[in-house]
Amino acid sequence: MLKIGIINGPNLNMLGKRDKKIYGNLTLEEMNHKIESFAKKEDIELTIKQSNFEGEIIEFIQQNSSKLNGLIINPAAYTHYSYAIADALQDCTIPIIEVHLSNIFSREDFRGKSVSAPACIGQIAGFGFQSYILAIHALQDFLKKGSSEINK
Ligand code: DQA
Repeated sequence: MLKIGIINGPNLNMLGKRDKKIYGNLTLEEMNHKIESFAKKEDIELTIKQSNFEGEIIEFIQQNSSKLNGLIINPAAYTHYSYAIADALQDCTIPIIEVHLSNIFSREDFRGKSVSAPACIGQIAGFGFQSYILAIHALQDFLKKGSSEINK
């Protein structure tokens, strides 16, 4: 059974109330429920974490990555400037995929830069909660191929 971690960064606990035109109507709980039911069908065990605190996200990465086969992270606004989260991801030896609900490249200029994506095998942005489902598919595929090449 694959073990995959999902981390959601600051303000993502406000989904369903935040700008719905950009982030959609689903609450975080509803989104997690959809992701969980997909994972269950695929026989994947998920560990899901949301935090508004940079240090807590870093500690989650440090304490859990060795127990997981892969990690999906939406660092939210930390994407654009947290070298501390980027360093924590860089230190992981498991494959990581960065996801975004919105297409960060079609919004304000500052969102078009990710400091964390270089520590990941890839990034998926712009598909709402489907970004997470696509990331699970991509991790399954990556791990099935036994790809040990993590480009860091
Ligand atoms: C986000 C995009 C970020 O720029 C923003 O700060 C978020 C959410 C997304 O999922 O689209 O909080 O990561």
